[in-house]
Amino acid sequence: MFNKKNNIIQNPIDRLPEFNYIDENSVYLDTACQSMRPQPVIDAINNYYTNYNACGGRVKYKWGQKVDAKVEETRELVLNYLSLPTKEFICSFTLNTTYGLNLILSQLPTDSYEQVTTSEIEHNSVFLTTIELAKRLKVKRNVLKRDKDGNLIYSTDEIRKAVVVVNAVSNIDGQKLNNIEQLIKDVHQAEGIVVIDAAQAMAHYHEMLKKCNADAICFSAHKMYATSLGVIIIKKDLLKSLNKSFVGGGMVTGVQKNNYQLFPDDMASWLEPGLQAYGEIISLGESIKWLTTVKPFGLKPTDYISKISKQLYDGLYEISGIKILNNIPSSVISLYHEKVDAHRLAVFLSATGIMTRSGYFCCHYYLLENLSLPPLLRFSVGLHTNENDIIKTIKTMERITKG
Ligand SMILES: Cc1ncc(COP(=O)(O)O)c(C=O)c1O
Repeated sequence: MFNKKNNIIQNPIDRLPEFNYIDENSVYLDTACQSMRPQPVIDAINNYYTNYNACGGRVKYKWGQKVDAKVEETRELVLNYLSLPTKEFICSFTLNTTYGLNLILSQLPTDSYEQVTTSEIEHNSVFLTTIELAKRLKVKRNVLKRDKDGNLIYSTDEIRKAVVVVNAVSNIDGQKLNNIEQLIKDVHQAEGIVVIDAAQAMAHYHEMLKKCNADAICFSAHKMYATSLGVIIIKKDLLKSLNKSFVGGGMVTGVQKNNYQLFPDDMASWLEPGLQAYGEIISLGESIKWLTTVKPFGLKPTDYISKISKQLYDGLYEISGIKILNNIPSSVISLYHEKVDAHRLAVFLSATGIMTRSGYFCCHYYLLENLSLPPLLRFSVGLHTNENDIIKTIKTMERITKG
């Protein structure tokens, strides 16, 4: 069963075969940071590097033409994944969620918005960028609360002519923005815009973003089973309104001494200055095809994730001294122990092959300033996780937290 020569398990019990390369002693529970890549995604990027390693958007030779076709296919796959119409939305690629948010927020016009609104339970990629946005626009910034179900609590005054930037799913406790639809409706009525940080939503909870009418959605392909890449979905109207200030090769049709014209028919390029990560873009297309067809043990990916998340949550919940932050099970579970420091727990777990995260997960304001919590330990499962991983993790946690 275990092939020592190349360290590959040939027939692991209860693991999706696309992750057969994971050795049975490694329990990777840091999917919220970046997911494991299924074999078809790894094959797609290898195939690009070994068979048609060309740039896109610039060349007439065969390899480049294939890249262009695959990149366009991926843009369509992304929009289809969320059932968003191509006549209204554009899909562009960048480095990660953080870059996507920065690209949009730093290019928003200075005279269109009167306030910036976010929530207290945000990743630094939202929290810090909204601080900078409010400074640049010289407007006030609202940091709102969410209720225990993840709904953003707001008044009409706090969203009037506002740039509202919030996550769809939290990277601390998996809390979902359940009132997303109403929020978008209300913000639009109040002449504002909504930018969604979908970093934790796209892999396992993308259904909540289907037909979403947000003005922009940013996410990271590396958190949805593809290789490292950022994705921006943006309404054409918002894209047109941006002051394009991140500019360069691959986006202009004409250049004069002191002026230039952007490609009128290739709006995606307006957010893509310079050469892009073509292999990574192509791998994202493959991951979407995989995510929409894979049936882990006969279940939809979301249902499989719910099942193993609940098993892990229930097991951890029973361990004495542990305080779980989640209200409900989720692919992301954060906790602390009354007596044992989270960083120590992470080191003990690592000694047995279990990989978790400890600290504040780039949510310093909420966890440290607001709640004054000690460092946390975070477990995040993925489609590669199997029941053996869950059992081992619970047993190890019981052992290492025993007084
Ligand atoms: C909710 C959330 N938003 C934004 C980010 C930032 O993603 P990236 O580091 O890929 O830019 C993360 C990363 O963990 C996240 O979990």
